[in-house]
Amino acid sequence: MKKDLVSIKDLTADEIRHILVTASTFKDVLKRDIKKVPTLRGKTMVNLFFEPSTRTRTSFELAQKRLSADVLNFSVTTSSVVKGESLYDTLRTIQSYGADYIVIRHPCSGTPHLLSKIVRASVINAGDGINEHPTQALLDAFTIQEKLGEFKGLEVAIVGDILHSRVARSNTLCLRALGANVRYVGPPTLIPTYLPKGIRAFYNLQEGLRGVDVVMALRVQKERMDRGFFPSEREYFKLYGIAEERLQMAAPNAVVMHPGPMNRGIEISSEVADSERAVILEQVTNGIAVRMAVLYLVGGADA
Ligand code: CP
Repeated sequence: MKKDLVSIKDLTADEIRHILVTASTFKDVLKRDIKKVPTLRGKTMVNLFFEPSTRTRTSFELAQKRLSADVLNFSVTTSSVVKGESLYDTLRTIQSYGADYIVIRHPCSGTPHLLSKIVRASVINAGDGINEHPTQALLDAFTIQEKLGEFKGLEVAIVGDILHSRVARSNTLCLRALGANVRYVGPPTLIPTYLPKGIRAFYNLQEGLRGVDVVMALRVQKERMDRGFFPSEREYFKLYGIAEERLQMAAPNAVVMHPGPMNRGIEISSEVADSERAVILEQVTNGIAVRMAVLYLVGGADA
């Protein structure tokens, strides 16, 4: 694999499948009494989070610790960034510690790409603006494979705020590379005008969910909205919220996913979020094994 994982486009379909197989091996490790392997002992990993995160930050840290690496966590609110230090100087300071891996989340699209050009360390994108969130897509693919097996011919509906969603972009690239069919479902204001080739858009939830195997609900990203994209949260839930009665249109064994954090009562009902169909907490659990696999494989650690 390449030095960095900035985009799903950095991976071939075979490399994605290799990550999923490797993650499965690490998932077995995580079931043992001693959940730790010496694979990346002596490697220094820095987690740079310029945006809030619960799942991605904690699961990267756990993955790094399970691989026996040395971990440094950087939070913007307690750093010299608040005193005006530039991104460039912050990154060069971190590089001076001799970091082998830098995991970065940043509100500006393209920041991990820029970083990968100026540091020797392997850079892993933990979410950049509205651009990409590659490890989320990989853990989603791992979860789908565990639940449904084959990707070929699988129908996946990504529902909601696709316009502002890095999760939607990375999942579209990843799932289509693996052979699944992806459709977008949501209000016209939250679906991009220009769709990737082969993607169908549905503005009616019932039609969009007809026969699908996977319903991937997205968070309404209010922090990225500079104007009103829908009249009210109440209306949004009424028209596009994933509620039990709407799922009758989906395949009988369809699973419901959500990358988190969830807005219950806006994009998903509590009843569905806590139901048997929902694999939301399994996505979180799988995040550790998948991120262990990514850390192990980027930069050609297994070569
Ligand atoms: N799915 C996801 O990126 O969640 P966090 O923002 O909590 O990391």
